[in-house]
Amino acid sequence: MRTVYVNGDYVPENEAVISIFDRGFLMADGVYEVTSVLGGKLIDFEGHAARLERSLSELDMPHPCTKDEMLEIHRELVRLNGIEEGLVYLQVTRGSDGDRDFVFPDRETTKPTIVLFTQSKPGLADNPAAKRGTKVISIDDIRWGRRDIKTVQLLYPSMGKMMAKAAGADDAWMIEDGAVTEGTSNNAYIVKDGKIVTRGLSSDILHGITRAAVLRFAREAQMEVEERAFTIEEAKAAEEAFSTSASAFVMPVVEIDGVPLGDGTPGPVARRLREIYLDESLKTAI
Ligand code: PDD
Repeated sequence: MRTVYVNGDYVPENEAVISIFDRGFLMADGVYEVTSVLGGKLIDFEGHAARLERSLSELDMPHPCTKDEMLEIHRELVRLNGIEEGLVYLQVTRGSDGDRDFVFPDRETTKPTIVLFTQSKPGLADNPAAKRGTKVISIDDIRWGRRDIKTVQLLYPSMGKMMAKAAGADDAWMIEDGAVTEGTSNNAYIVKDGKIVTRGLSSDILHGITRAAVLRFAREAQMEVEERAFTIEEAKAAEEAFSTSASAFVMPVVEIDGVPLGDGTPGPVARRLREIYLDESLKTAI
């Protein structure tokens, strides 16, 4: 049984308790982070900690702990649960003032809720899906307009995954005003004329921590990067496509809406970026 963290305590997972009035539960009034663990160490922790701060500030939500405390909790859970490869999930909600009300509770008297747990994923780095490549479908992006805040409002992304599954695909890329925003739980890229193309940062997409690292490594390796919106038609005609996230790193996409890309196998740019990302991020893992 896992040990999880809830509001200051490390407890067995079946003993962790939060209120039924918690606003995360009633209103999806919460934010989260997912940090990967490789070789028992945290990948891109600084980036995830900084984005959490930003999500909390954007929603005027109190900070439950300092960055150092957060690091300590992550490390302790990784240690207690013996995680070599896997994920640490962290969620902060606006807490509970013991009733249901649309109005935010007083931040002086209502403490945020903080919960963390680990997920053991042996083989996360050596994922067979990365060798095979993934298939995506396109769906409308009907999410709210502040996708730059990492909230727990994940119903539509979950529905998107189910639509993909029903279509025999692995994931869905979302389309707004004719252009791809992002995947259900990842950022989306194509390779065109050898250039890496991905949508620029705005409130339309989550500012992926893996995205930031991958683009930095790509530029350092003299690969050309173009941050702009692209259409699904452009993607279907691209040389390659891939997605990035903390849980899948760089994941090649080999088919979009039933159309194979190139020869239908993971392309060289995606494969190289995956390798560089895994090598480089391991060097700075803590
Ligand atoms: N999802 N876009 C969306 C909508 C996401 O949910 C995620 C991450 C990303 C990639 O961000 P990052 O590189 O920081 O993981 C982009 C996480 C992994 C999840 O919900 O499980």
